[in-house]
Amino acid sequence: MAKKEAIRRIGVLTGGGDCPGLNAVIRGVAKPAEDYGMSVYGICDGFEGFVEGKARELSNADVSGILARGGTILGSSNKGDPFHWPVEVNGKIEIQDKSEAAIKNYISWGLDALIAIGGDGTMHICNKLSKMGVNVIGVPKTIDNDLEATDVTFGHDSAVYVVATSLDRLHTTAASHHRVLVVEVMGRYAGWIALNGGLAGGADIILIPEIPFSWESVAKKIHERELMGKKFSLVCVAEGAKPIGGELTTRGSDIKRTDPIQLGGIGKVVADKIEELTGKETRVTILGHLQRGGSPTPYDRILSTKFGAFAIDLVAQKKFGKMVALKGNEIKNVKIEDAISRHKLVDPEGQAVSVAKAVGISFGD
Ligand code: F6P
Repeated sequence: MAKKEAIRRIGVLTGGGDCPGLNAVIRGVAKPAEDYGMSVYGICDGFEGFVEGKARELSNADVSGILARGGTILGSSNKGDPFHWPVEVNGKIEIQDKSEAAIKNYISWGLDALIAIGGDGTMHICNKLSKMGVNVIGVPKTIDNDLEATDVTFGHDSAVYVVATSLDRLHTTAASHHRVLVVEVMGRYAGWIALNGGLAGGADIILIPEIPFSWESVAKKIHERELMGKKFSLVCVAEGAKPIGGELTTRGSDIKRTDPIQLGGIGKVVADKIEELTGKETRVTILGHLQRGGSPTPYDRILSTKFGAFAIDLVAQKKFGKMVALKGNEIKNVKIEDAISRHKLVDPEGQAVSVAKAVGISFGD
């Protein structure tokens, strides 16, 4: 692709599942862009819109007042990977490469660069597009906080806030009815949401993918609490948690998605087993998409704004093929190709787990 000198027009898209803070990033990109003399083109519905040619101008007026708004004004999709595009052929789903269609749109829209806001799947696509000559900058998002290249992803703090405040509410009803209440939270193969949400919300038991649990140990903790006069317990279980020697609990798979496996259901499995082993009335609450919706926390608003503004600075400096990352207290950039596929998991021997254990939380191990 021919390289132009000045950066005049940039595309912005949000890929994968939504999370609080996406709009704050879009605003953080679009407002300074005007000062750089760049116009911003918003690509609708993530990479799906990139392939299908859905986009619109984004003026400063469009991004005004969206800092605290959840979701994404651009729309998103986790099914639109241009390199893995499902097409129905004779009643069967066939996977095709539609990247040329995306590149065609990039050229016809007159884009000089693309800022893609998304998780690991989005960064994989960015890496491939970068190799095809697209001037890409990645901005990492996910409530799961499972990207190794950045200390924190925006959206995580907002999800943790939902988990913590939900546990606060469940605490009073669990105590009133002497019940065990199990809360299933998201996070895919990482336990960050369960760990941080459980710590902040005072869970008695936290079950995470990184620490396979034993049923006996879970039941023992509830029994010990009973002996101490605590006739209720709160269990925070990550959707990717599994018992020792057991399998992930899934609710299906969808070939059209970047990761076809759809996790979910472990909360009910845990609640049923606890009731069986302890004889205590046990109920489950699945927080689901409550963790992704709504307004970002102040922490996420600040991080998202910094990420957006840093991304546009990188564009102005023509430092392409980079992903924005938080390192300590500073926003830095890392090569996208170094950032992808490096998942950050909870260290079972790490400080957060040992602090949780120190205050009496059981991990069922
Ligand atoms: O990656 C974010 C996330 O919310 C995961 O925690 C969860 O497993 C998944 O997305 C759910 O995706 P969907 O909303 O497409 O079912």
